[in-house]
Amino acid sequence: MAGIKYLSGFGSEFASEDPKYPGALPVGQNSPQKPPYGLYAEQLSGSAFTAPRQDNKRSWLYRIRPSVIHKPFTKYDDSKYLTHNWNEQHPNPNQLRWQPFNIPLEKDGIVDFVNGLHTVCGAGDPCSRNGIAIHVYVCNGSMKNSAFYNSDGDFLIVPQQGRLKVTTEFGIMIVDPNEICVIQQGMRFAVEVDGPSRGYILEVFDGHFKLPDLGPIGANGLASPRDFLTPVAHFEDKEIKNFKIIDKYQGTLFVALQDHSPFDVVAWHGNYVPYKYDLKNFMVINSVSFDHCDPSIFTVLTCQSTKPGVAIADFVIFPPRWSVQEDTFRPPYYHRNCMSEFMGLILGSYEAKEGGFLPGGASLHSMMSPHGPDGGCFEAATNAELVPQKVAVGTQAFMFESSLSMKVTKWGEITCQKLDPKYYECWQSLKKHFNEKLKL
Ligand code: FE2
Repeated sequence: MAGIKYLSGFGSEFASEDPKYPGALPVGQNSPQKPPYGLYAEQLSGSAFTAPRQDNKRSWLYRIRPSVIHKPFTKYDDSKYLTHNWNEQHPNPNQLRWQPFNIPLEKDGIVDFVNGLHTVCGAGDPCSRNGIAIHVYVCNGSMKNSAFYNSDGDFLIVPQQGRLKVTTEFGIMIVDPNEICVIQQGMRFAVEVDGPSRGYILEVFDGHFKLPDLGPIGANGLASPRDFLTPVAHFEDKEIKNFKIIDKYQGTLFVALQDHSPFDVVAWHGNYVPYKYDLKNFMVINSVSFDHCDPSIFTVLTCQSTKPGVAIADFVIFPPRWSVQEDTFRPPYYHRNCMSEFMGLILGSYEAKEGGFLPGGASLHSMMSPHGPDGGCFEAATNAELVPQKVAVGTQAFMFESSLSMKVTKWGEITCQKLDPKYYECWQSLKKHFNEKLKL
């Protein structure tokens, strides 16, 4: 969109000031006695003060008023399907698949991004800062005179339908389907939409998303740091009566009123920033001889646990690419995993399922629950001529993969009415081919 500017890089120390106010950013120190233009200096910490340097995250905001000017928080009741209560339902190890989640219609009234948050599944606890939640948002209107922040962790937002205009304290981002954005813990933002909108959210209660290490791949490949975009400073100086600040705190929403816009940051600097990424920029790596690489080869971002190489959650995509492996069953292998796999589809149709997995829908293959290509896909791939083939053209599936064992919410299992009870049938047509005369 014209007029929206970004800074390029991942994990970088950025500095930005609204071009109409040159010199708004103090030089040489973070909190001068009197910052330029009469601004207040406020630090936003995204890590413990004493975190190792490579993990240390903070930004300094130079704003018209400090964030503390608001009335007391009270409970906010307009988002009844957001929850971190994982005990609403009995555990369910079945393979689960959801038809596309409903987007509210005009007759349902205006539903904005916050009111349209619905939790599908998750594990852990934001109080002890360990766990994840997977939400979908479905909305038909923009947030008006309100802003949201998450005290519990970071949001990785995957729009599936509808463009998002995300106004943050750091500036404005336009995020289209097939792009993602990450809004980290505590950052205030508001979402405007053009019309019916839907997407997925991966929330992590601890740590932040990083680029995966590349090991023997070398310095280049997968998602490149230069393709991550952070907004430039942009502010409004507005008195707005009863502006709502909505806080997700310990899994519950609260609202506080104030009489001004919180998007009043004239300049900022730091390495704790919101960012967006266009998935079409992902450089796909894969086998060019035989067999499969594991899907970790498609990792865009990872939030690591304290165990080496074990992710609290990975964000993985399955982009258009060439499939060239010789003597190989090319669709994803049959699999049982010590991780949980939640998948969604942004556009097109997924290569390992002939039907039923649709854009705006989802699937969950829980810990050690077997999964893999359906009967039709197996037969076709087993007998296909193995010539180089472009796969996943016009599609974008993704996976949130977690080392945590997730539970499904009541909304996810019952209320949304999108769970497909016949999902298991897609594997029932898989035939026995065992024949002692068929030794190759
Ligand atoms: Fe898998």
